[in-house]
Amino acid sequence: VPGSFVWDEITERNAMNTDSAHGLADMVRETREIWDAKAAFWDAEMGEGNVFHQVLIGPAAERLLAVQPDERILDVGCGNGVFARRLAALGAWVVATDFSPRFVELARARTVAHVDRIDYQVADATNEDQLLALGEGRFDAVVCNMVLMDMPVIDPLLRTVARLLAPGGRFVFAVQHPAFNSNAVSLVGEVVATDDGRRETRHSLKVADYLGVSAGKGAGMPGEPAPHWYFHRPLGVLLGACFAAGFVLDGLEEPALPAEDAGHGALTWANLPGIPPILVARVVPR
Ligand SMILES: C[S@@+](CC[C@H](N)C(=O)[O-])C[C@H]1O[C@@H](n2cnc3c(N)ncnc32)[C@H](O)[C@@H]1O
Repeated sequence: VPGSFVWDEITERNAMNTDSAHGLADMVRETREIWDAKAAFWDAEMGEGNVFHQVLIGPAAERLLAVQPDERILDVGCGNGVFARRLAALGAWVVATDFSPRFVELARARTVAHVDRIDYQVADATNEDQLLALGEGRFDAVVCNMVLMDMPVIDPLLRTVARLLAPGGRFVFAVQHPAFNSNAVSLVGEVVATDDGRRETRHSLKVADYLGVSAGKGAGMPGEPAPHWYFHRPLGVLLGACFAAGFVLDGLEEPALPAEDAGHGALTWANLPGIPPILVARVVPR
């Protein structure tokens, strides 16, 4: 019958406040334990790229990075190394870091080509000392795909990236699009009667909040063993943090899934080809 149904994009997405007993160190430890515990599931699902990676994140990040042969690139929060391997295949020398030792192990185990071009290391991206130890002024570019919204603080990373970059370097990051893809967003399907008496499903987004979304847990992939924390930052906050760290924005992409991937009434991003779930930005030192 005509009517509407709403599905929280990820059902575990219940907003939770962070103003509990958590200090920053406790929160970082908790986020690391959560990611470490789900690394094997994530690696198996991600492989060499799920649809989001292959269609949205990877191509946009590659365009904005415009990798040149033999450039030195730091991949922060590399997960199972899917993008580090793309960079190595493009001819870059890659340092790929993650704070989860299990992810780093899995990334290494998956790397069979260009092995000499990727140096995987454990490093916490909220920790300036660990980041600086990677080499001040050493990198032509830094990339950070789908990690900033998982981090309780990003100012230390942004400050440090400015120091890790060689002159003329760039920083490219992909995040869930803050306006359209957060814990306050639901995908909506409305079953409507058409003029010729058929039923069809129209898809839209319900954005319940944007400026005031609390930190909360959610799954990054359907079926994940446990949800992880999301730290929503509206665009003004996210880009404002980049500007405060001395960067200017000089590239931006908002990729969406192509219309031909649309399914039959299912509540998926493929049925919203006009709405980008991902935002990819390039910032450079002023
Ligand atoms: C959504 S996954 C993205 C992984 C990978 N960049 C990709 O695009 O497939 C988030 C990754 O960030 C890592 N991560 C989260 N917080 C981090 C931190 N403070 N320092 C380093 N890595 C972190 C997690 O362990 C996980 O591998």
